[in-house]
Amino acid sequence: MEIISLKSVTALLLSLSVICFGFCTAIDTMTSTRFIEDPETLVSNGSAFKLGFFSLADSNNRYVGIWYSTPSLSTVIWVANRDKPLNDSSGTVTISEDEIVWSSNVSNATSNSSAQLLDSGNLVLRDNRGSITWESIQHPSHSLLSKMKISTDTNTGEKVVLTSWKSPSDPSIGSLSAGINPLSIPQLFIWNGSQPYWRSGPWDGQIFIGIPDMNSVLHNGFQVVDDKEGTVYATFSVANSSIFLYYVLTPQGTLVETYREYGKEEWEVTWRSNNSECDVYGTCGAFGICNSGNSPICSCLRGYEPKYIEEWSRGNWTSGCVRKTPLQCERTNSSGQQGKLDGFFRLTTVKVPDFADWSLAPEDECREECLKNCSCMAYSYCSGIGCMSWSGNLIDLGKFTQGGADLYIRLAHSELDKKRDMKAIISVTIVIGTIAIGICTYFSWRWRRKQTVKDKSKEILLSDRGDAYQIYDMNRLGDNANQVKFQELPLLALEKLATATNNFDEANKLGQGGFGPVYRGKLPGGQEIAVKRLSRASAQGLEEFMNEVMVISKIQHRNLVRLLGCCIEGDEKMLIYECMPNKSLDTFLFDPLKRESLDWRRRFSIIEGIGRGLLYLHRDSRLRIIHRDLKASNILLDENLNAKISDFGMARIFGGNQDQANTKRVVGTYGYMSPEYAMEGRFSEKSDVFSFGVLLLESISGRRNTSFQYDEQYLSLLGYAWTLWCEHNIEELIDETIAEARFQEEISRCIHVGLLCVQESAKDRPSISTVLSMLSSEIAHLPPPKQPPFLEKQIAIDTESSQPRQNESSSNQVTVTIIQGR
Ligand SMILES: *[C@@H]1O[C@H](CO)[C@@H](O)[C@H](O)[C@H]1NC(C)=O
Ligand SMILES: *[C@@H]1O[C@H](CO)[C@@H](O)[C@H](O)[C@H]1NC(C)=O
Ligand SMILES: *[C@@H]1O[C@H](CO)[C@@H](O)[C@H](O)[C@H]1NC(C)=O
Ligand SMILES: *[C@@H]1O[C@H](CO)[C@@H](O)[C@H](O)[C@H]1NC(C)=O
Ligand SMILES: *[C@@H]1O[C@H](CO)[C@@H](O)[C@H](O)[C@H]1NC(C)=O
Ligand SMILES: *[C@@H]1O[C@H](CO)[C@@H](O)[C@H](O)[C@H]1NC(C)=O
Ligand SMILES: *[C@@H]1O[C@H](CO)[C@@H](O)[C@H](O)[C@H]1NC(C)=O
Ligand SMILES: *[C@@H]1O[C@H](CO)[C@@H](O)[C@H](O)[C@H]1NC(C)=O
Ligand SMILES: *[C@@H]1O[C@H](CO)[C@@H](O)[C@H](O)[C@H]1NC(C)=O
Ligand SMILES: *[C@@H]1O[C@H](CO)[C@@H](O)[C@H](O)[C@H]1NC(C)=O
Ligand SMILES: *[C@@H]1O[C@H](CO)[C@@H](O)[C@H](O)[C@H]1NC(C)=O
Repeated sequence: MEIISLKSVTALLLSLSVICFGFCTAIDTMTSTRFIEDPETLVSNGSAFKLGFFSLADSNNRYVGIWYSTPSLSTVIWVANRDKPLNDSSGTVTISEDEIVWSSNVSNATSNSSAQLLDSGNLVLRDNRGSITWESIQHPSHSLLSKMKISTDTNTGEKVVLTSWKSPSDPSIGSLSAGINPLSIPQLFIWNGSQPYWRSGPWDGQIFIGIPDMNSVLHNGFQVVDDKEGTVYATFSVANSSIFLYYVLTPQGTLVETYREYGKEEWEVTWRSNNSECDVYGTCGAFGICNSGNSPICSCLRGYEPKYIEEWSRGNWTSGCVRKTPLQCERTNSSGQQGKLDGFFRLTTVKVPDFADWSLAPEDECREECLKNCSCMAYSYCSGIGCMSWSGNLIDLGKFTQGGADLYIRLAHSELDKKRDMKAIISVTIVIGTIAIGICTYFSWRWRRKQTVKDKSKEILLSDRGDAYQIYDMNRLGDNANQVKFQELPLLALEKLATATNNFDEANKLGQGGFGPVYRGKLPGGQEIAVKRLSRASAQGLEEFMNEVMVISKIQHRNLVRLLGCCIEGDEKMLIYECMPNKSLDTFLFDPLKRESLDWRRRFSIIEGIGRGLLYLHRDSRLRIIHRDLKASNILLDENLNAKISDFGMARIFGGNQDQANTKRVVGTYGYMSPEYAMEGRFSEKSDVFSFGVLLLESISGRRNTSFQYDEQYLSLLGYAWTLWCEHNIEELIDETIAEARFQEEISRCIHVGLLCVQESAKDRPSISTVLSMLSSEIAHLPPPKQPPFLEKQIAIDTESSQPRQNESSSNQVTVTIIQGR
């Protein structure tokens, strides 16, 4: 037998309309003889709520529900027949026993029962003695009203939860639910199916630790109660009757706090559970920590590093982090070897991980207990809770700027030491750097600043922010004084890189980059990497190192080599890249045997790839970047011979609408430098276009630009090409291994484009986007080129500068630095 039921009635209309006149005006109670029929409503005494029929969007479906009577239907807070809508407006709500669409499922039927809609939004069924047999607040729909409870019975596991609608226009039961998990320490959860989707953090008696802004006035009425019979419930109450407040679980899985003052029409959202990506459960994986103020948001806890560094750098953080150095307790167990005791690193203001174990131990005992048990990974002590400890994975951590709790993470002693070492190294590096590089340039820099010559100053600072090492760069760009912050890069342990490269074995050496050797390596997971090791104690190299980290960590493109991480330990500084098995373009192009494997199609696609990478740097990335050292040995080839630009040690970022800069320190490579840059230190996108033109002509001719150095007849490849152009004999330039008649026209066109790129005056050179259009024949008509400069031999070399200079006698492809006397 049923007490309230909803019927689909078609017959009784006439007789009922008479009754309607009697109570259509604001009644709040139904009985077996007074019932409501679509479109009538019950109105609570006080008019806050109505109960009746409603439809959503354009649907014909009729639902019975309770809603806030002002201002509109969008505030439906409870729905009776969520999964069984009526399809027309013939429904009635009665207290009866038959033809049931939805029922309250209470079987104590009496003929004298009544149902009243209270001003709290609660629909209450009373039997003839006036005692409550059923109430709607015990059966929440998608909203949590004042005094409603969401609960879990720890004995039976039975839960009372909020369940989301399928969509804003479909109140049927969706996949998301919000409830309380009482295990160990109560926490609120939103689940997607059975998977956790959001977590409030543990309840400390006043607030949930993972909701740092919960102290706001409106939250004051929140309570989590253990009723001592095994049921734990969460509820809230609003004391002020001129305030309406409720929580709703949206179809997207967000818990939203909505608020309205008496007499106002508009609802205001005062809190929501998804303030950032960090609110998605476990975003950063095991031992990762999420900080919505950082970019990227995830980093590894101190003493941990990404498990799969490549996945991690792609923004796939789910695989999480692993410990760098084994704990002392683990080592002791496996080898009997003793060492310094493990210690704890304190992380302040965090949302502590899920799956805490709880004990009543006082704080120092809490620490002791954790230290004693090798499976204890972290502990936290909170006055409102007591001692929490964690074993296994630490999952779903968040870093706040305020609020939260202090978490102590167990680390091997050496990892703790490193913190101090690191700081020392950093300050020493900065001091030495300042003295060694800075001192002579300092005064001239000051002088130039006074004269408002646009140049940038760079202060590099490694700082310890508690969750991971961060690298910042305070970089003033032109007049904008922009502050560019380093993106976080995974830091890898030196030991790991040494193992990966077999202790930097000569056999693993891939080549010599601008400021140090590059080694091939293999991480334990099998991932191949290239490790660029900065020459020790190279003060100049440090600047380039920092510059490269700064530039390349911000950008990603298929034609740019990807930086996976870096390593700064002691006086070792290394950059870790994706591995390019085919090395660099020059190893193909200028090798009599290997060059044959680059047919014209391949070469053309390499040229296009370089062009697209350069276009990205100049135009498409968020920053404008001038590479300044484009050359064949800086173009790497992946396994499919796709080109990737590398070596950003010289690159410069342009701010705002700056399109040209001056430098007194000209860096670049012979033959690739544009005249205005080599002679006057002026660089712009057009100086990169010049280098691209040289590269293009090299790719077609298969000859190094510098291979003419001792040839009396021609000064350079450019001079040679120009002579052939003037003699209408440009086919002569084409490498015979690609000289096929069917490609001749296309190749000649490319030479033409190459000559346009290397014209003497920067303004005559096309931009890289125009170059790409020319290459793809989108621009059909090419202007005639002007004479390129023949300037290589005029450049004086500064003999005092950096270490790579020593290699120069053997190879003039090495990047040089020229201090320009002006
Ligand atoms: C509404 O409530 C007031 C005070 O609680 C009471 O006096 C009044 O009779 C109620 N009205 C109805 C229709 O129940
Ligand atoms: C409404 O539903 C009833 C049964 O539930 C069905 O017989 C009827 O055809 C439906 N009407 C419409 C218009 O869908
Ligand atoms: C009502 O109770 C019956 C059995 O007692 C059960 O099968 C049915 O699912 C219940 N309905 C609701 C809406 O709880
Ligand atoms: C129903 O209620 C009326 C008055 O409210 C009372 O006189 C009557 O005895 C009740 N009937 C039963 C069966 O409880
Ligand atoms: C409903 O009836 C059952 C027995 O049929 C009884 O145990 C229960 O207390 C009754 N509920 C109310 C609210 O009267
Ligand atoms: C919930 O899980 C389903 C299936 O795994 C997924 O398609 C959906 O996007 C998830 N919802 C949210 C809000 O994450
Ligand atoms: C109730 O809230 C209203 C609106 O915020 C406020 O003006 C009033 O002072 C509050 N009353 C009490 C008793 O706090
Ligand atoms: C939170 O979720 C809502 C939908 O429920 C969405 O509109 C909003 O953009 C989300 N906010 C953030 C910061 O993700
Ligand atoms: C993320 O990384 C994990 C572990 O490496 C992998 O299994 C998963 O497929 C990756 N997901 C995506 C979307 O790349
Ligand atoms: C030490 O090793 C043994 C077996 O190798 C294992 O059962 C035990 O749990 C380990 N103890 C600790 C503290 O890890
Ligand atoms: C260590 O902690 C784990 C997990 O909390 C627990 O199962 C185990 O019993 C503890 N071992 C000792 C020796 O206390």
